[in-house]
Amino acid sequence: MVAFGSGYSVTPWEVRGRVDYDRLVEEFGVQKIETDLLAKLEALAGDLHPLLRRGFFFAHRDLDLVLRECEKGERFFLYTGRAPSRSPMHLGHVIPFVMTKWLQERFGANAYIMIPDEEKFLAKKVDSLDEVEPYVRLDILNIIALGFDPDRTFIFRDTEYIGRMYRAAVEVARHINLSIAKATFGFAGETSIGLVFYPALQIVPTLFEDRRPLIPCAIDQDPYFRLQRDVAPKLGRRKTAELLSKFVWGLTGPESKMSASEPETAVLLNEDPDSAARKVMNAFTGGRATAEEQRRLGGVPEMCSVYHWYTILFEDDDERLRERYLSCRGGELLCGECKVELAKRVARFLESHRRKVREAEKLIEKFMYDGKLASRMWSWTWRG
Ligand code: TYM
Repeated sequence: MVAFGSGYSVTPWEVRGRVDYDRLVEEFGVQKIETDLLAKLEALAGDLHPLLRRGFFFAHRDLDLVLRECEKGERFFLYTGRAPSRSPMHLGHVIPFVMTKWLQERFGANAYIMIPDEEKFLAKKVDSLDEVEPYVRLDILNIIALGFDPDRTFIFRDTEYIGRMYRAAVEVARHINLSIAKATFGFAGETSIGLVFYPALQIVPTLFEDRRPLIPCAIDQDPYFRLQRDVAPKLGRRKTAELLSKFVWGLTGPESKMSASEPETAVLLNEDPDSAARKVMNAFTGGRATAEEQRRLGGVPEMCSVYHWYTILFEDDDERLRERYLSCRGGELLCGECKVELAKRVARFLESHRRKVREAEKLIEKFMYDGKLASRMWSWTWRG
C-alpha cells in the first residue's frame, strides 16, 4: 500500500508534504527502532553511527533477526541503490550510502549497489535514456568517493548487467500479480508497462547471496521490499531486512524534501562550494523576525533547516550539537552566525568530496568489473 495521508504522500517516485512518520510506520507495517535494539547493534558493531543515535534511521524490518543471526555467527549482506536522474545526487541521497558503508566497515559485509539507469525514464521523470547518461558515471563516482571497500562492493548498472539478472527477474515477476503491484505502488492506467515490471528487477539483488540481505534506504523504497518479503520464501531465499531513514529536509524548511529538481532546496554533491554556501545563507531557519525578538524569545531549532543539517551530516559530536541547540533556544546564538558556520562546513565537505571523486576515477573498474566481488558477480546467474 502507498501512503496517501492527509497532506502528504510517499511513493518510491514521489514524496510530497510534511510526512507523518508515526502514521507511515503503521501504514507501511514496519517497526520503529527501539532503544534495546540500538543497544544490541552497538554491542555488535562496537559503536553507533550518529544517524542511528539521533533516530534519523528510525524504522526497520527484521533488524532484530539480523542481529540475532549475527550473534550466532551468521553473516548478512548489504544492498542499496541509486537511480540516475537529470542532475547529480544531492546530500539527501548520500544518507543510505553513508549507513551502508558504516555497516560494511563494522561487519565486513559485502555490499551490492544497483544503478537502475532505466527507472527514472520508465517513471517518466526524464524524457530519454540519454538524459541520465552523464549522471550514471558521476553517481557511481560519488558513491565510490564515500569510501566503500573495492573488493567487497559490486556496483552495476541495469542496462549493462541485465543479462545476468534477467532469469531471476523473470522468476520474481512470475510471483507478483497486477493487483498486488497496483495496490503496492498505486500503478494506474497511464503507468508504463516497463515500470510495472521494474520492481521485479529491483528485487533481484536480494537474491545474490544465500544469506539475509539488509537494505539501508529511506522509507520511500519500502514498497519494493515488502513485495520481496512475499516472494523470496517462494524462491527458497531469505526475506530481506531493512534499515529505514526519514527524508533529509530541503533548505526551504521542514515541509520540503530535498529535491534536485527544486535547486533552492538542495545541495548537489558536485555543486560549486560557493554556490552551496550561498544556498545555505538563504536557508529557512527557526529564527524570529528580528534579532531583538530572537534574543528575547530564542529560536526554534525543531523547525530549522540549518539545525537539521547539523544533526544529519555536519556535527558528529553530540555534546557540541546539544550546545548549539541550547544556545539557539536561549537566544544567544543568532541565525546569521549559525548559517555562516554551516555554510563553511558544507563548502569544506564539498571540496574534500571533489578530491575523493578524482581518486574514485582510478577505482571505478574495480568496483564494476575486476575487484574480488565484482569479478565473481560477472559469472552470477539465478539457479533456483
Ligand atoms: P533514488 O535515486 O530516488 O534515491 C537514492 C536513495 O536515496 C534515498 N533518498 C533520500 N534519503 C534521505 N533523504 C532524502 N531527501 C532522500 N531522497 C532519496 C532513497 O530512499 C534511496 O535509498 N529505486 C531507487 C534505486 C534503487 C534502490 C535499490 C534504493 C535500486 N535498488 C535498493 C534502495 C535500495 C531510487 O530511485 O532511488
